[in-house]
Parts: sequence; C-alpha cells; structure tokens
Amino acid sequence: MQQFLSVDDVSNIDLLVQQALAYKADPYRDRELGRSKRIGLLFLNPSMRTRLSTQVAAQNLGMEAIVFNVGSEGWALEFAEGAIMNGTTVEHVKDAAPVMGNYFDILAIRTFPSLKSREEDYSEAYIRQFVKYAGIPVVSLESATLHPLQSLTDIITMTEALPALPPGKKPKVVLTWAPHVKALPQCVANSFAQWVNAWGQADFVVTHPEGYELDTRFTNGATIMHDQEMALKDSDFVYVKNWSAYSDYGKVLCTDEAWMLNNAKLQLTNNAKVMHCLPVRRNVELSDEILDGPNSLVTREASNRVWAAQAVLAEILRSSIKR
Ligand code: CP
Repeated sequence: MQQFLSVDDVSNIDLLVQQALAYKADPYRDRELGRSKRIGLLFLNPSMRTRLSTQVAAQNLGMEAIVFNVGSEGWALEFAEGAIMNGTTVEHVKDAAPVMGNYFDILAIRTFPSLKSREEDYSEAYIRQFVKYAGIPVVSLESATLHPLQSLTDIITMTEALPALPPGKKPKVVLTWAPHVKALPQCVANSFAQWVNAWGQADFVVTHPEGYELDTRFTNGATIMHDQEMALKDSDFVYVKNWSAYSDYGKVLCTDEAWMLNNAKLQLTNNAKVMHCLPVRRNVELSDEILDGPNSLVTREASNRVWAAQAVLAEILRSSIKR
C-alpha cells in the first residue's frame, strides 16, 4: 500500500480486516516493523479518536508519532496555485509539504471541507497537494469528502459483530441520516457507503429525508429510501450519521427530530446493533436510551480505530521496506 486516501488504495478489504483483528489480539506482534520510522500527524481540524488511536497504533508498531496541530499552532497554509500571498496565509503547501516529507516516513493529514464550494471540496485539493509535494506515503485522517480509517473500523466492527444468519443471507446494513444542529460534512456517510459497497457482504440501504441524496459515486449499489421506518425493517446494523446536503451543497434542509433513532424504532429491526463514528450529539442525533443500551456498538467501534490504523500503517511500512 503506497497511500491510504480511500478504499481504492486497498487491494483486499477482508485481508486488511483480518490483519487489524490480529493486532487486536496481539497489539505488539509487529513492534519492530516501525523501528526508526517516524509518522507526522497533521491536524488542520479538531480530533480526539483519530489523533489518539493513530498515535497508539504507530507506537504499537515501534514508530515515533509526532502530532502537529497545524490549524491552531502552525503557520496558516496557502493551497491556491499561483496565489499572491498578501493576505492571511503565511506558507504555501508547496514549501511546507516537502519539508515534512524530509522529517517523516509517513505523513497523515486531517482536513475538513469548507462546505461552501462543492467543486473545491470534492476536488480534494488539500490532501492531494500533500500527496503531490510531500514525496512520502500520505494517510487520510479524514479529508474533505472521505474518512477511510473510520470506514475500515466500521467494517472491522461489523465483521466482529455479525449475527448468525441462514447460509447465503447477507446482513442488512442501514445508513440512516440523523438530525443535527450544524451543517456537517458528507465524509463519514460517503466513505461508509463506498466501503460497504466495495466490501460487498451486506444488503445495503441508505435512508434520509428528500434532498439529502449523497454523491452516487459512493452510494451506487445501495437502495435509497426516504421512509426511515421502512428502511430499518429487519436490519442487522444501523449506522447513524448526520450530513448536510450534497445537491444544495452544505445546506441544512431538515431538522425533523422524528429522524432520531430511539428504542421504538429499534423494535422494527432484527435486534440491530447501532453504530456511530462519534462525537455524537446526545438526544439530537441519537437518544440516550440507544447510546447507553445493549445494542450500541459505539465504544467498541471507537476502540477499534487503533487496529484499523495499525493495519494500514503496517501495510504502508511493509511496502516501503519492499521498495
Ligand atoms: N470519529 C472520529 O473521527 O472522531 P474524531 O473526530 O474525534 O477523530
């Protein structure tokens, strides 16, 4: 693996999941793999799980992890080609990224979308410029449109929690939109859809109010439903997430509290396990009764972030050793 920006960088999802589960069983089995290697973790936006889990994962592999909160501690970065930098930005990514490429063996980056220009966000210009100018493998810690480490974790978590089903029957996985007080990116939902489709081991349904259709590049293959209760019927996993509109880009079109998952709706499912990437707005996106109840996988899911990151970093380290 030369980089990790999306599921397209993964040749075999199941193998990567098994590698992650092997690390969960024995975290230090490859503690020499990253000896004398260094990873830079660059945050242009806030994080808790991604930052800590990737640091732990790197350290389990014997790597040194250096965190740089670019957004709050670094020089304001410029990304525009040909920019006349007489405003607030101080350093161009063209100058910063090659320096970082010399400090580190792997560069991992979190950037969020502006939610102002769909074209700009969906061009993934920020992370792609780090790829272009750093000259070392780049790992996405969430980009403008995708969150692949989260999605790998989600597949790992579903693999662990698969219910006993009749032979040949796939689990029914439902991605449901939930209300929120702010306009949030589509990253987690896009990425979850992309990975579940690529995984190919689920009957996949996406449900949301009208107007919240995601980019079909990610959802193609899923059944799209606007009736949440119908969508939830007989489901085995319910993935809850808010996102802002993709068509009317970045807008909040619906605040209907009835879209929040609760125990009454859970009765429609096949005793489904409930997932959310966290952080979650309690009693807005998801009810206390679900989050604190027996069907919630959210803590396990967040804990599994370590093993997903460790499997990805190990793959990249192995590839760099081969070169
Ligand atoms: N799920 C997730 O990415 O969490 P953080 O934003 O805290 O990293």
